[in-house]
Amino acid sequence: MNNFIFENKTKVYFGKGGVKEYLGCLLDHYGDTVMLAYGGGSIKRNGVYDEVMGILNAKGKRVVEFSGIMSNPTYAKAQEGAKLARENHVDLILAVGGGSVSDCCKVISAQAKMDEDIWELENTKHTFPTEFIPLGTIVTVFGTGSEMNNGAVITHEGKKIKGALWGAQADFAFLDPSYTLSVPMKQVISGAFDTLSHAMETYFGKPDENNLSDDINEAVMRSVIRNIRVLLTDPENYDARSELAWASAMAENGVLKIGKVTDFQCHMIEHQLGAYTNCNHGAGLAVIHPVLYRHICKSGTARFARWAQNVWGIASKGSDDETASAGVEALAAFIKEIGLPTTFAELGIPADTDFRAIADSTNITAGCCKKLTHDEIYDILCECK
Ligand code: NZQ
Ligand code: ZN
Repeated sequence: MNNFIFENKTKVYFGKGGVKEYLGCLLDHYGDTVMLAYGGGSIKRNGVYDEVMGILNAKGKRVVEFSGIMSNPTYAKAQEGAKLARENHVDLILAVGGGSVSDCCKVISAQAKMDEDIWELENTKHTFPTEFIPLGTIVTVFGTGSEMNNGAVITHEGKKIKGALWGAQADFAFLDPSYTLSVPMKQVISGAFDTLSHAMETYFGKPDENNLSDDINEAVMRSVIRNIRVLLTDPENYDARSELAWASAMAENGVLKIGKVTDFQCHMIEHQLGAYTNCNHGAGLAVIHPVLYRHICKSGTARFARWAQNVWGIASKGSDDETASAGVEALAAFIKEIGLPTTFAELGIPADTDFRAIADSTNITAGCCKKLTHDEIYDILCECK
């Protein structure tokens, strides 16, 4: 295993009723002004807004609302939020929503504390913010794991780049699986697939000899696959929703990455696809993953074969090559089984999309079994059509 330093500062309140029980006391630790940030309004329809607002009012907080954070949040939206937070001397940002709200708020939290443009700071000077407005999250849809890390995925529309910014990490996060009951099933499944993707992208990183991180990872992957299947037959199942909620955090809170170098190449491709098409993140990953893995599995047959056996329950075939391929096809069949798109056409992405530009603007990273070229990424994208 590689050397590592590990810390995760987010205090997690997991389970039904957590907000009602603990949010009020937590608020006592922060100043008077709270920015309540959310998305397009689902929290107003499912009662979460009223619940949170009731607690904020009972604590006498001055509430600054910041709404309309879109899926695949834009840099402009984060800047709008930072301006509002700065003008109102916000003491705590409360992000209520999914990965998009959480990510946008991480950037708001950092940008509000400095004059320099965060995109330039990180991408040109390669330095990172050090001061933040405290952040807490209340997760209403799971998958990204954004609630337990400091990564924010932001679309810069002007530059046509969807990429990571490093912002605040939440001080506390409420993970109440019952909040997900109002999420459309399509989104529940695409979120869960995002979790599976995070686990896979980590698992195929280096080193690939046996280690504890990968053993835990296999358990996470099996759990996600099993619980997606449970939810599809029993949509209200609280236990399955709980397992998926915790798996979402586990896949991106750093535990599975301990001692590993990862490349998240599928994510890099999907993010640029998102920059050009604004597609749903988990659904985009679902289309790309099997095609990508067909391209790279011959460069990591032993690892893919282990995954096929330990995650997909495939009996060893004549050779690692065959077992590895059977694993990739099991993933492809699973994606079909759970109703996620298998082609860009199904995802609503037109065939004349500028895949060359998407490929050329994709970050090439190398932590997995094969370092791709832009041409190979272009081929992969074309095969996804
Ligand atoms: O905007 P509202 O009205 O709230 O509706 C949202 C949105 O339309 C809806 N929703 C959320 N909670 C709901 C609900 N609808 C009904 N009931 C509820 N309880 O769900 C839709 C999707 O929400 P969104 O936050 O966009 O989804 P997700 O959590 O999948 O986040 C996607 C974003 O996260 C980024 C993605 O790239 C994408 O931009 N990611 C962030 C990561 C991170 N920070 O660690 C890692 C990921 O790999 C990913 O890239
Ligand atoms: Zn993801």
